[in-house]
Amino acid sequence: MNHMITIRESIESDLEQIFFIEYSAFKKEGKEIAKLVKNLLSDSTAKPALSLIAFEKNLAVGHILFTKAYIMPKKNISAMILAPLAVIPKAQKKGIGSKLIKTGLKKLSKSGIELVFVLGHPTYYSRYGFKPAEQFSLKAPYPIAQKNKDAWMVKKLKEINEISGKVICAKSLKKPKYWKE
Ligand SMILES: CC(C)(COP(=O)(O)OP(=O)(O)OC[C@H]1O[C@@H](n2cnc3c(N)ncnc32)[C@H](O)[C@@H]1OP(=O)(O)O)[C@@H](O)C(=O)NCCC(=O)NCCS
Repeated sequence: MNHMITIRESIESDLEQIFFIEYSAFKKEGKEIAKLVKNLLSDSTAKPALSLIAFEKNLAVGHILFTKAYIMPKKNISAMILAPLAVIPKAQKKGIGSKLIKTGLKKLSKSGIELVFVLGHPTYYSRYGFKPAEQFSLKAPYPIAQKNKDAWMVKKLKEINEISGKVICAKSLKKPKYWKE
């Protein structure tokens, strides 16, 4: 099913297509998420970032963004945050989200990233090896409601011992409204 899907790093001229993906995938929150993506892509504190766009034939159908994060006080650990991930409704459930995550994690692993964080659906992201970050005492940039605590997850790309601390995200993502999950 995946054979007609191509994934590459996004370029400036993909922006409108990326916004369209966010609008259609996130529906009423689409405008806000598109604005977040726009801000993150031009945010120096989000760099290095990894922005991947998926095409089905010539149609842009999916997008994933990873941006820089730090762990305080362990600033030497290289980390990223996955946000957002979106696939347009008519292309969902065909493995495109999965392919974007896997391609992203592979590229990040090759570039030496050690930890990847996400605030998302635990059943979805656990398929890719994400685990509740609470078990490693890795706190989110803003407190996560107790009922959603398993949604704050981390994937280790390298075996690191004794990680704990608070995750600091890019400036554009550092707003309580993005941490309500
Ligand atoms: C989440 C999303 C990116 C998945 O994209 P996709 O290309 O359909 O994903 P895949 O085809 O790889 O995987 C589909 C599977 O994910 C599951 N899934 C989708 N959304 C889910 C959710 N919110 N919670 C749990 N599972 C979910 C589907 O039920 C499906 O399960 P199945 O394989 O057992 O049938 C897409 O549904 C989307 O853009 N949703 C709206 C935006 C959003 O919520 N983004 C995620 C933010 S964390």
